[in-house]
Amino acid sequence: MSTNSIIPTTGKRFELLMRVYEGAANQVFGELMNIKQILKDFYGYDIINNVTKRIKTSESIINKMKKKNYQLNYKNLINNINDIAGVRVICPLKNDIYTIINIIEQMPNMKIIKSKDYISNPKESGYSGYHLIIETPVIIENEEIPVKVEIQLRTMAMDFWATNEHKMKYKTDKKLSFLDSKRLTIYAKILNILDDKIMKLYQKQRSNV
Ligand code: GTP
Ligand code: MG
Repeated sequence: MSTNSIIPTTGKRFELLMRVYEGAANQVFGELMNIKQILKDFYGYDIINNVTKRIKTSESIINKMKKKNYQLNYKNLINNINDIAGVRVICPLKNDIYTIINIIEQMPNMKIIKSKDYISNPKESGYSGYHLIIETPVIIENEEIPVKVEIQLRTMAMDFWATNEHKMKYKTDKKLSFLDSKRLTIYAKILNILDDKIMKLYQKQRSNV
Protein backbone atom coordinates (compact mmCIF):
# COMPACT_ATOMS: atom_id res chain seq x y z
CA MET A 1 0.00 0.00 0.00
CA SER A 2 1.47 3.37 -0.94
CA THR A 3 1.24 5.45 2.18
CA ASN A 4 1.24 8.70 0.25
CA SER A 5 -2.00 8.24 -1.62
CA ILE A 6 -4.97 10.46 -0.80
CA ILE A 7 -7.39 8.62 1.45
CA PRO A 8 -10.61 7.41 -0.16
CA THR A 9 -12.49 6.46 3.02
CA THR A 10 -15.05 4.34 1.19
CA GLY A 11 -12.53 2.06 -0.55
CA LYS A 12 -11.39 -1.47 0.27
CA ARG A 13 -7.96 -0.28 1.40
CA PHE A 14 -9.39 2.02 4.00
CA GLU A 15 -11.72 -0.71 5.21
CA LEU A 16 -8.77 -3.09 5.55
CA LEU A 17 -6.74 -0.54 7.47
CA MET A 18 -9.67 0.02 9.84
CA ARG A 19 -9.85 -3.72 10.38
CA VAL A 20 -6.21 -3.66 11.49
CA TYR A 21 -7.04 -0.97 14.06
CA GLU A 22 -10.08 -2.97 15.12
CA GLY A 23 -7.84 -5.99 15.66
CA ALA A 24 -5.52 -3.88 17.81
CA ALA A 25 -8.42 -2.47 19.86
CA ASN A 26 -9.85 -5.96 20.37
CA GLN A 27 -6.48 -7.25 21.48
CA VAL A 28 -5.93 -4.50 24.05
CA PHE A 29 -9.55 -4.76 25.21
CA GLY A 30 -9.12 -8.51 25.73
CA GLU A 31 -5.91 -8.07 27.72
CA LEU A 32 -7.50 -5.44 29.95
CA MET A 33 -10.56 -7.65 30.53
CA ASN A 34 -8.17 -10.41 31.63
CA ILE A 35 -6.43 -7.99 33.99
CA LYS A 36 -9.85 -6.95 35.32
CA GLN A 37 -10.68 -10.54 36.22
CA ILE A 38 -7.27 -11.32 37.73
CA LEU A 39 -7.31 -8.16 39.87
CA LYS A 40 -10.86 -8.81 41.01
CA ASP A 41 -9.79 -12.21 42.30
CA PHE A 42 -6.72 -10.65 43.94
CA TYR A 43 -8.25 -7.56 45.57
CA GLY A 44 -11.74 -8.93 46.19
CA TYR A 45 -13.38 -6.01 44.41
CA ASP A 46 -13.49 -4.68 40.86
CA ILE A 47 -10.57 -2.27 40.57
CA ILE A 48 -11.58 -1.95 36.93
CA ASN A 49 -15.21 -1.08 36.77
CA ASN A 50 -15.62 -1.18 33.04
CA VAL A 51 -13.64 -1.46 29.78
CA THR A 52 -14.98 -0.18 26.47
CA LYS A 53 -13.53 0.11 22.99
CA ARG A 54 -14.33 2.04 19.86
CA ILE A 55 -12.92 2.73 16.41
CA LYS A 56 -12.95 6.34 15.24
CA THR A 57 -15.33 6.92 12.35
CA SER A 58 -13.84 7.83 8.97
CA GLU A 59 -15.59 11.20 9.19
CA SER A 60 -14.02 11.91 12.54
CA ILE A 61 -10.56 10.83 11.31
CA ILE A 62 -10.75 13.17 8.32
CA ASN A 63 -12.06 16.04 10.48
CA LYS A 64 -9.20 15.61 12.91
CA MET A 65 -6.62 15.55 10.12
CA LYS A 66 -8.08 18.72 8.63
CA LYS A 67 -8.20 20.40 12.05
CA LYS A 68 -4.55 19.57 12.63
CA ASN A 69 -3.62 20.67 9.08
CA TYR A 70 -2.31 17.30 7.92
CA GLN A 71 -2.41 16.47 4.25
CA LEU A 72 -4.94 13.71 3.76
CA ASN A 73 -2.74 10.71 3.08
CA TYR A 74 -2.19 7.32 4.68
CA LYS A 75 1.25 8.20 5.95
CA ASN A 76 -0.07 11.12 8.00
CA LEU A 77 -3.01 9.08 9.16
CA ILE A 78 -0.88 6.20 10.43
CA ASN A 79 1.87 8.39 11.90
CA ASN A 80 -0.17 11.17 13.47
CA ILE A 81 -3.67 10.05 14.32
CA ASN A 82 -3.07 8.07 17.49
CA ASP A 83 -6.62 7.49 18.65
CA ILE A 84 -8.16 5.59 15.75
CA ALA A 85 -8.32 2.57 18.04
CA GLY A 86 -9.48 3.64 21.49
CA VAL A 87 -9.95 1.72 24.70
CA ARG A 88 -11.33 3.29 27.88
CA VAL A 89 -10.83 1.90 31.37
CA ILE A 90 -13.04 3.13 34.20
CA CYS A 91 -11.94 2.56 37.81
CA PRO A 92 -13.71 3.31 41.10
CA LEU A 93 -10.73 5.12 42.68
CA LYS A 94 -7.83 7.31 41.50
CA ASN A 95 -5.24 4.93 42.93
CA ASP A 96 -6.70 2.07 40.91
CA ILE A 97 -5.67 3.95 37.76
CA TYR A 98 -2.02 4.00 38.83
CA THR A 99 -2.19 0.30 39.68
CA ILE A 100 -3.42 -0.45 36.16
CA ILE A 101 -0.76 1.78 34.57
CA ASN A 102 1.94 -0.10 36.50
CA ILE A 103 0.61 -3.36 35.12
CA ILE A 104 0.35 -2.01 31.56
CA GLU A 105 3.99 -0.88 31.80
CA GLN A 106 4.95 -4.51 32.31
CA MET A 107 2.83 -6.00 29.55
CA PRO A 108 5.01 -7.18 26.65
CA ASN A 109 2.17 -6.58 24.17
CA MET A 110 1.63 -2.98 25.17
CA LYS A 111 4.57 -0.70 24.54
CA ILE A 112 3.87 2.77 25.92
CA ILE A 113 4.99 5.42 23.47
CA LYS A 114 3.32 8.48 24.99
CA SER A 115 1.50 9.34 28.19
CA LYS A 116 -0.52 12.38 29.21
CA ASP A 117 -1.36 12.86 32.85
CA TYR A 118 -4.48 15.00 32.96
CA ILE A 119 -5.04 13.79 36.52
CA SER A 120 -2.12 15.71 38.00
CA ASN A 121 -2.64 18.42 35.36
CA PRO A 122 -6.31 18.70 34.37
CA LYS A 123 -7.14 20.48 31.13
CA GLU A 124 -8.45 24.03 31.25
CA SER A 125 -11.96 22.69 30.66
CA GLY A 126 -11.64 20.70 33.88
CA TYR A 127 -11.18 17.40 32.03
CA SER A 128 -9.11 14.86 33.87
CA GLY A 129 -7.97 11.39 33.00
CA TYR A 130 -4.76 9.54 32.18
CA HIS A 131 -4.06 8.88 28.51
CA LEU A 132 -1.61 6.37 27.12
CA ILE A 133 -0.71 5.81 23.51
CA ILE A 134 0.56 2.28 23.27
CA GLU A 135 1.69 0.05 20.43
CA THR A 136 0.44 -3.48 20.23
CA PRO A 137 1.63 -6.02 17.65
CA VAL A 138 -1.02 -7.15 15.19
CA ILE A 139 -0.22 -10.11 12.95
CA ILE A 140 -0.85 -9.42 9.28
CA GLU A 141 0.18 -12.15 6.83
CA ASN A 142 2.64 -13.68 9.31
CA GLU A 143 4.22 -10.34 10.07
CA GLU A 144 3.96 -8.49 13.37
CA ILE A 145 2.96 -4.85 12.77
CA PRO A 146 2.92 -2.44 15.72
CA VAL A 147 -0.42 -0.62 15.82
CA LYS A 148 -1.21 2.39 18.01
CA VAL A 149 -4.06 2.32 20.49
CA GLU A 150 -5.13 5.12 22.83
CA ILE A 151 -6.00 3.95 26.32
CA GLN A 152 -7.93 6.47 28.41
CA LEU A 153 -8.07 5.75 32.14
CA ARG A 154 -10.65 7.57 34.23
CA THR A 155 -12.33 7.23 37.59
CA MET A 156 -16.12 6.89 37.60
CA ALA A 157 -16.32 10.54 38.70
CA MET A 158 -14.06 11.71 35.85
CA ASP A 159 -16.06 9.65 33.38
CA PHE A 160 -19.37 10.99 34.72
CA TRP A 161 -18.11 14.53 34.15
CA ALA A 162 -16.48 13.92 30.74
CA THR A 163 -19.49 12.05 29.35
CA ASN A 164 -21.89 14.82 30.29
CA GLU A 165 -19.56 17.65 29.30
CA HIS A 166 -19.02 16.01 25.92
CA LYS A 167 -22.78 15.66 25.45
CA MET A 168 -23.36 19.32 26.30
CA LYS A 169 -20.44 20.74 24.32
CA TYR A 170 -20.21 18.63 21.19
CA LYS A 171 -23.37 16.63 20.69
CA THR A 172 -25.74 19.53 20.39
CA ASP A 173 -26.31 22.61 18.24
CA LYS A 174 -27.14 24.65 21.31
CA LYS A 175 -23.99 26.41 22.41
CA LEU A 176 -23.19 26.41 26.11
CA SER A 177 -22.93 29.92 27.59
CA PHE A 178 -19.65 31.17 28.97
CA LEU A 179 -21.07 31.08 32.49
CA ASP A 180 -22.33 27.52 32.14
CA SER A 181 -18.95 26.45 30.75
CA LYS A 182 -17.35 27.95 33.85
CA ARG A 183 -19.87 26.07 35.99
CA LEU A 184 -18.84 22.80 34.34
CA THR A 185 -15.20 23.55 35.10
CA ILE A 186 -16.05 24.19 38.74
CA TYR A 187 -18.07 20.94 38.91
CA ALA A 188 -14.99 19.09 37.61
CA LYS A 189 -12.97 20.57 40.46
CA ILE A 190 -15.63 19.54 42.99
CA LEU A 191 -15.66 16.00 41.60
CA ASN A 192 -11.87 15.92 41.82
CA ILE A 193 -12.07 16.82 45.51
CA LEU A 194 -14.69 14.09 46.06
CA ASP A 195 -12.50 11.57 44.20
CA ASP A 196 -9.69 12.31 46.68
CA LYS A 197 -11.99 12.26 49.70
CA ILE A 198 -13.54 8.90 48.85
CA MET A 199 -10.10 7.42 48.21
CA LYS A 200 -8.83 8.69 51.57
CA LEU A 201 -11.84 7.19 53.37
CA TYR A 202 -11.15 3.87 51.73
CA GLN A 203 -7.44 4.01 52.58
CA LYS A 204 -8.24 4.91 56.20
CA GLN A 205 -10.58 1.95 56.51
CA ARG A 206 -7.98 -0.39 54.96
CA SER A 207 -5.24 0.77 57.33
CA ASN A 208 -7.51 0.02 60.31
CA VAL A 209 -7.93 -3.64 59.29
P1 GTP B 1 -8.28 15.09 20.35
O1 GTP B 1 -8.10 15.75 19.02
O2 GTP B 1 -9.52 15.56 21.08
O3 GTP B 1 -8.24 13.58 20.28
O4 GTP B 1 -7.08 15.62 21.27
P2 GTP B 1 -5.56 15.16 21.31
O5 GTP B 1 -5.24 14.20 20.22
O6 GTP B 1 -4.70 16.37 21.41
O7 GTP B 1 -5.47 14.33 22.64
P3 GTP B 1 -5.92 14.62 24.12
O8 GTP B 1 -5.16 13.61 24.91
O9 GTP B 1 -5.80 16.03 24.55
O10 GTP B 1 -7.47 14.27 24.14
C1 GTP B 1 -7.93 13.09 23.61
C2 GTP B 1 -9.31 12.69 24.09
O11 GTP B 1 -9.51 13.03 25.48
C3 GTP B 1 -10.48 13.33 23.40
O12 GTP B 1 -10.78 12.70 22.18
C4 GTP B 1 -11.59 13.12 24.44
O13 GTP B 1 -12.04 11.78 24.46
C5 GTP B 1 -10.84 13.37 25.73
N1 GTP B 1 -10.88 14.79 26.12
C6 GTP B 1 -9.87 15.67 26.08
N2 GTP B 1 -10.26 16.88 26.51
C7 GTP B 1 -11.57 16.78 26.84
C8 GTP B 1 -12.55 17.70 27.35
O14 GTP B 1 -12.30 18.88 27.62
N3 GTP B 1 -13.81 17.21 27.55
C9 GTP B 1 -14.14 15.91 27.31
N4 GTP B 1 -15.39 15.51 27.54
N5 GTP B 1 -13.23 15.01 26.83
C10 GTP B 1 -11.97 15.44 26.59
MG1 MG C 1 -9.57 11.69 20.52
